[in-house]
Amino acid sequence: MAIEPIPFNKPYMTGLEIESINEAHALGSLSGDGTFTRRCREWLEQLTGTQALLTHSCTAALEMSALLLDIQPGDEVIMPSYTFVSTANAFVLRGGVPVFVDIRPDTLNLDETKIGDAITQKTKAIVPVHYAGVSCEMDEIMAIAARNSLAVVEDAAQGVMSSYRGKMLGSIGDFGAYSFHETKNIISGEGGSLLVNREESLNDAEIIREKGTDRSQFLRGERDKYSWQDHGSSYLPGELIAAFLWGQMRRADEITSMRMEAWERYDELLGPLKASLDCQTPTIPAHVQHNAHMYYVILPRGVDRDSVLKYMREQKVGAIFHYVPLHSAPAGRRFGRQSGELENTDDLASRIVRLPLWCGISESQQCYVVDSLKAAINAD
Ligand SMILES: Cc1ncc(COP(=O)(O)O)c(C=O)c1O
Repeated sequence: MAIEPIPFNKPYMTGLEIESINEAHALGSLSGDGTFTRRCREWLEQLTGTQALLTHSCTAALEMSALLLDIQPGDEVIMPSYTFVSTANAFVLRGGVPVFVDIRPDTLNLDETKIGDAITQKTKAIVPVHYAGVSCEMDEIMAIAARNSLAVVEDAAQGVMSSYRGKMLGSIGDFGAYSFHETKNIISGEGGSLLVNREESLNDAEIIREKGTDRSQFLRGERDKYSWQDHGSSYLPGELIAAFLWGQMRRADEITSMRMEAWERYDELLGPLKASLDCQTPTIPAHVQHNAHMYYVILPRGVDRDSVLKYMREQKVGAIFHYVPLHSAPAGRRFGRQSGELENTDDLASRIVRLPLWCGISESQQCYVVDSLKAAINAD
């Protein structure tokens, strides 16, 4: 029997997106900060308790936070090496120096016990990345930041709908950045949001987002004209993107529970096999609520990951690896520096395999994925 390919990701459409886009079309106002941007913003503000600004990507939100922190050439920013390039690039664009710290072996998140050794006179900020939508140890990270007068920017690209001790990810540090890229849980193709947790930075954030002008205040009737105020760029999405996103936000709980069902099924299927396969599966600390963004397996040492992925691909399973650690990439070596050994980063990045996970993946498809993984490991 021919097997249908099982893709790694399948963007989920709620069906409400078209309705919202039609409404935006009928309203006839397509540039940013219209009806749908406002709805999305209010939804985010209610969810997180922060001031939220919709952006065209998480990358844009991270760049905005680098501008808000006034990162200057030579300023150091502590972050994991096991992350997406934008975490570092946002600061490198301002002349900042990413300082790479190792990750924890259980959650693959920034190891909070190693941050202290990375701090110098030049350190300005810590950027915890909530990998797979599972929170970093934020109490410890916030305490280190407070003791050393450092800002905290949460890269919560994967963390929409996740929380830490009851607080939504992205709402704990000074700034938080969400992604609505089509590979994430709540999507708009490209899209993101900056969460502002410092009341005094909101005005500057609005100016940075609107090309360095006070247009946002003007549109609210707080100015009789708008003009160039400070540095800035164009970081806001148009209304069609916001309309699509609104069609997703209205179903955010359903999306999360569908993903959670698939995530838990993998966990049930792999739990009994973990020991015999000698694999590691995700750890979710008790004080953390995750959003089922990702299910991964850390292969046993000595198993060749490329062969496993090739075998699974031949079986039509879209399993994939993840980040190439930034400290080992050409630009990471040029622009950043590492603090201490990055043993867990190198080790885990080379052994991780991410499994297909999307709304609507069936039980039989997931059983097939797990069988294919087992066969691939045993075949190696
Ligand atoms: C940790 C992390 N940060 C930032 C980004 C960038 O997000 P966007 O594509 O919305 O700019 C990603 C994208 O996958 C990511 O995984």
